[in-house]
Amino acid sequence: MHFNTIIEPFRIKVVEPIRRTTRAQRVKALKKAHYNLFLLKGEDVLIDLLTDSGTGAMSNEQWAGMMRGDETYAGARSYYRFESAVQEITGLKHIIPTHQGRAAERILAGVALKKGDIVPNNTHFDTTRANFENVGAIALDIPIPEGKQPDVIHPFKGNIDLEKLAGVLKNNPDNVPLVMITVTNNSGGGQPVSMANIRAASKICKSHNVPLFLDCCRYAENAFFIKLREDGYADKSPLEIAQEMFSYVDGATMSAKKDGMSNIGGFLALNDDELAQNCKTQLILTEGFPTYGGLAGYDLEALAVGFKEALDEDYLRYRLRSVEYLGERLIESGIPIVQPTGGHAIYIDAKAMLPHIPQSQYPAWALGNALYIEGGVRGVEIGSVMFGLQPDGSEKPAAMELVRLAFPRRTYTQSHVDYLAEVLLYVNSLKETIQGYKITQAAPVLRHFSARLEPVGNIT
Ligand code: F0G
Repeated sequence: MHFNTIIEPFRIKVVEPIRRTTRAQRVKALKKAHYNLFLLKGEDVLIDLLTDSGTGAMSNEQWAGMMRGDETYAGARSYYRFESAVQEITGLKHIIPTHQGRAAERILAGVALKKGDIVPNNTHFDTTRANFENVGAIALDIPIPEGKQPDVIHPFKGNIDLEKLAGVLKNNPDNVPLVMITVTNNSGGGQPVSMANIRAASKICKSHNVPLFLDCCRYAENAFFIKLREDGYADKSPLEIAQEMFSYVDGATMSAKKDGMSNIGGFLALNDDELAQNCKTQLILTEGFPTYGGLAGYDLEALAVGFKEALDEDYLRYRLRSVEYLGERLIESGIPIVQPTGGHAIYIDAKAMLPHIPQSQYPAWALGNALYIEGGVRGVEIGSVMFGLQPDGSEKPAAMELVRLAFPRRTYTQSHVDYLAEVLLYVNSLKETIQGYKITQAAPVLRHFSARLEPVGNIT
């Protein structure tokens, strides 16, 4: 067809009302939530871009699949559908279901890592880092240098630094039990990793006999970026590209709340028989029997359908375009964002937008709160509240101060995105009045989820 508009490739069968609030109501709600967007009630948010994790809409086929859910404790039909969908995409041998991604991370960390081990990754997601550090391992982020510079354009800013990877493996022959690559690189701006980078990393790992894992939460979005941007892939299907990505790795952790297109679920996939057996033993302790791993049979059905739907080209084109569309509006208006736009979210560069707020007063946290107060929009800080606290208790500013606006899958339409652009432009027009924050109470790990903060001055 010769029409250019990329439409939402679905029609709406069920609607869920969202609630408008006044600015005064939002100021009050935020104060009650100790100025932490995680502590708000969902019903006080108009457009919720806190996360794209488990917040999307399922398709008619997924809901139909749920009715077929087999709740047999051991050996349920639904597990085998799930296993076969994951195996078709990943080619990996042992598919261990978990209730979400961090359960897979925790089990892998407990079985494969010990104190003093190093795990290189392009950038660990916060739960991955926390799970690895929890067993005393060092989560080492080695993205390419472009990956840390929000305004530098590079087609695959999520790439891992191959030279650094080779160096770490050479200098630590006995304490790198595995290497990980996160696709897309969520904490680094939702940026894709190229096939060439995965292939080369795999070669380096093989030469040191170290297994390579993918944190593959957004494998389908990554595959589509490869199709659009990497030579030789334009005519391949997203499924074929995903299959090639997985052909270079020995295992994967997955939060299926992302490209599993479902509200809950995950897996740990492995080729190594012994490692898989040990992981299954751990799974039984806390998650459940290996054919359900903490999920209901109907969840496994929704996932089996969802993994495939995530690879649909019309869907992926619409998904990447919705993010790019908002990105274009912001760039036109001089709002600094991570460029080019990533797969699932816009990342606003709060350090560049609010230079009057020092990193010690959490500029990205302040911007996130301002978006809520002015427009009822909820994003998430990916900055020094999330990453600043070091395992030894000291405080170190994060490399970037970003506000992420993550798009739930198949949930909002173009007019929601137009509204978002309006809110962002308005907040940009009053940015000098936005004030920093201080932390008044925080947990020692993953503090952003529950921390209490206070504005440095008064909110008017
Ligand atoms: N890895 C990546 C790259 C992630 O983005 C997430 C979750 C996880 C692992 C953990 O998975 O939540 O199922 O336990 N990311 C969500 C987010 C929470 O908002 O980006 P989980």
